[in-house]
Amino acid sequence: MSSATKEDFKPFNIDLWKYDGQKRALIPLLQSAQDTYGYISEKAIDYISHVTGIAAADIYGVVTFYAQFRTKPLGRYVVKVCNGTACHVNGAKMISDTIVDELNIDYEETSEDHSFSMLSVACVGCCSLAPVVVINDETYGRLTAPKLRKILRKYKQRAKKELQNSEGQA
Ligand code: FES
Repeated sequence: MSSATKEDFKPFNIDLWKYDGQKRALIPLLQSAQDTYGYISEKAIDYISHVTGIAAADIYGVVTFYAQFRTKPLGRYVVKVCNGTACHVNGAKMISDTIVDELNIDYEETSEDHSFSMLSVACVGCCSLAPVVVINDETYGRLTAPKLRKILRKYKQRAKKELQNSEGQA
């Protein structure tokens, strides 16, 4: 078990010490880490190992076993394609094809410059707007391929500017 203390994990910002010693808490803890950070970092594994008493190597084994867990961070913009029933029958495939073509990434992939990731999600709750895409916190509905391309190009421009700014600051 790690010699880390609660203090070491303060920046981690998940107060789940109530699960102390509970091995059963492993999956909820991993889900919580992924919900918070978008992926499961080494630091998160260290934290969870400390909380549950499960060896980090064993936790890593669980993380890599389940497809739902990611070990790499998501891009700056996360493009979630709704694949619920209404969106599925109203063109989710056209949506994903357009994203693949425009951003050069497929489901569960992140662009090389870390600007975009693409995920498939279940119904996001606005079926009357199908087909729907959620980019970070913005929802876009009644999409057609040209409409989506226009939106994605706007994000590409924004991401390019942000990259240039962060390179300028480095
Ligand atoms: S199925 Fe896509 S919003 Fe409900």
